[in-house]
This record gives sequence, C-alpha cells and structure tokens, in this order.
Amino acid sequence: MNEDETAKMIKAGIIGCGSIARFRHAPEYAANGNARIAGFFDPVTERARELADLYGGRVYGSAEELLADGAVDAVSVCAHNAAHCGYTVDALAAGKHVLCEKPMAVTADEARRMIRARDRAGKILMVGHNQRLLQANKIAKELIDGGTLGRVLTVTGAFGHAGPEGWSRDGGAETWFFQKGKAGFGVTGDLGIHKFDLARYLAGGEAATVYADFRTADKTYGDGSRIGVEDNAFVILGFDNGVAAQIHLSWTHYGGEDNATRVCLTGGVVKLFGEPNRPLVVVKRDGETRSYDAAGIQTNGRQTASGVIDEFIDSVLTGRKPAVTGEDGLAALEIAEACARSAAEKRPIELKKVRG
Ligand SMILES: NC(=O)c1ccc[n+]([C@@H]2O[C@H](COP(=O)([O-])OP(=O)(O)OC[C@H]3O[C@@H](n4cnc5c(N)ncnc54)[C@H](O)[C@@H]3O)[C@@H](O)[C@H]2O)c1
Repeated sequence: MNEDETAKMIKAGIIGCGSIARFRHAPEYAANGNARIAGFFDPVTERARELADLYGGRVYGSAEELLADGAVDAVSVCAHNAAHCGYTVDALAAGKHVLCEKPMAVTADEARRMIRARDRAGKILMVGHNQRLLQANKIAKELIDGGTLGRVLTVTGAFGHAGPEGWSRDGGAETWFFQKGKAGFGVTGDLGIHKFDLARYLAGGEAATVYADFRTADKTYGDGSRIGVEDNAFVILGFDNGVAAQIHLSWTHYGGEDNATRVCLTGGVVKLFGEPNRPLVVVKRDGETRSYDAAGIQTNGRQTASGVIDEFIDSVLTGRKPAVTGEDGLAALEIAEACARSAAEKRPIELKKVRG
C-alpha cells in the first residue's frame, strides 16, 4: 500500500453496467465518502452513459482503456461470470485493486489464477459475497463464536426466487444467466454460491464432502426447450469440523424470496431471515427466546445498502484483508464445482479429509 492511498479518494472504474452495477456498485461508491467514480465501461455504450450521467465519471470505449487510465485506483468487475477472471487478472496486472462480483469465476482453476495475480500485484482482491456482511448474519456469527450457544451441529437453509430473467438487464428467456458458457452454472453459481459462503462462515469450517442433485424443473428458452443449466439444486455438505449443511437453491420459487438460514447448536437454534420482520431469532434449549433488531436482507425487488463497497474501500485505504477474500471466493466455487460433479456423477464428492 503506497502512503498516498491512505490520504486520497479512491477512484473506481466499473466494468459491466447491468443490474448489479446500477443497483449496488454505482450508488454505493457514490455514497461512500472516500470514493469517487472514475468511469464506466459496457459493450452497450448507452448503459455506461446512463450511469455516468447519474453518478459522474467518464464513459470508456473499452475495458482496456479503463484499465490503462492511471486515474483509476480500483475496479468493480460486474460483467457476466465467464468474464470475471480475465478482467480481474488484467486489472490486477494494471495495478488496480479489484472487487469482483460473485461467483468469483466459472472454475476453481480460474479463481486460483486470480489469487496468484493478486499476490503478484500486491493489491486488494475482494469477492462480492454480500451475505456475510448482513447485520443479522454478523450478529449470529458473533453469538455462535461467543460459545454460549454451544457447538454448531447443522446449518440448513434455502435461497429461492422466481429467477434471474426478470432481473438481468438483458432479461427474458435468453438471458446469459441461462447460458452455461457465460454463467458456468445455473442456480448453484448464482444463488448457491452465496449460501455456500454463508454456510462456511457460520459453520466455521471447510466443506469436506459435497452431494448435490440438480433439476431443471421449469425454465425454458424462447423456443420452449429446457434451459441448459439447473434451475433447482439440492445440496448436502459435510464440513471438516463435523457440521452438516443442507441447502435448497431455486429459481422456481414463484412467490416472493426465501433466504432463510437455520443454525442448530447444542445450546439452541439461531433462525436467520426465517420470519417476517424478525431477521434474527435465537431460541435457547430451555425455551428462552430473543429477537434481535437488524437491517433486512436485500432482495431483487428491495435493494438496501449491502456494505460491500464500504468494506472494499476501507480495505483498499487501510491495506487490511477484506471481509471476503479471494480464498473465500475460491472455497465457495470449489463447492459449486463439486456440486456440478456430484450431480453429473450421482455420487458424493470428497473435497477434503475430515479432521480427526
Ligand atoms: N452480489 C449479488 O448479490 C449479485 C446479484 C446479482 C448479480 N450479481 C453478479 O453480478 C454480475 C453481473 O450480473 P448482473 O445481474 O448485473 O447482469 P446483467 O445481465 O444485468 O448485466 C451484465 C452487463 O454486462 C455487460 N457485458 C456483457 N459482456 C460484457 C463484457 N465482455 N465486458 C463488460 N461488460 C459486459 C452487459 O452488456 C450488461 O450490461 C454477475 O456475475 C452476477 O452473478 C451479483
């Protein structure tokens, strides 16, 4: 970290100006007192222009031009998943700090290349797993680590909504989210990756075994044929510290969003986002129940400040590790990859040896 970086505003460039750039990255950089937007690139130039009109900054003619701009300190990579690795590696090589959206990449090998690029550059690399930054999840983690609820036994949960075709800037049945070549995965890489990161965070261990069943239950392309990626996934994880997790991921949850997580411990149960207006409820083994005040969760229809940009800018300014590192992004991606293998081969996949 060069000394000037602590004293100056961080100037950010955004690559990919679709929904996540529009709803989170651009407004959250604009709201951060230590950041300024240097500019935008999107192959659909009007999208970059729209955001520059709203938030200031230049419209770049190419990603190369953005990365070559010495005024840019940091880059948000907000393009489709298959473009994450290339942009991240190039940005780090150009001396920029990088906030890469989730999933970090489409293969674990790509994620490893990104980590090596970070280490060569000596810059910050953060991955946009926003769930561990949610206030309720942070409080839950503190309670669990505090030890008064005993040992974690199981983590169960779901992440479901009606699908990305109503969210993506290029929505509809032909959205890139439904194209394996651009997305890498279906719902597993889109929603699952969030829950895998959260499960690691709450379980306090690493996934050792992965079992998954994939279904394409309902989504179709415009010609009526089934999409080429899974729209539902049923995942069972065994962690190296003995914790077991079970997660249902769905793009066919046609009725609001479900983002509930439940942690069962020897001393009680922690319920996250399972009840309307009660983001965190803890029920102890003796029946004592406490509901904690905390901000609501972001949904496609209701965007609240995610804290991702504030966390990224603070880590750039201070040089400390971000709350979600490249290694965290890689670990979640290894689980997603193992899910795909498990579903294809119809058997559990061993990722790591279980601790003795
Ligand atoms: N953290 C979260 O909760 C969250 C939520 C939604 C999406 N995301 C992630 O953000 C990324 C973008 O998703 P989105 O929802 O904004 O999608 P989107 O379809 O709305 O936008 C993608 C944008 O990328 C642009 N693009 C296409 N090819 C490009 C290229 N080669 N270089 C640069 N830009 C290119 C498109 O023109 C489009 O404007 C994805 O990786 C997605 O998984 C994260």
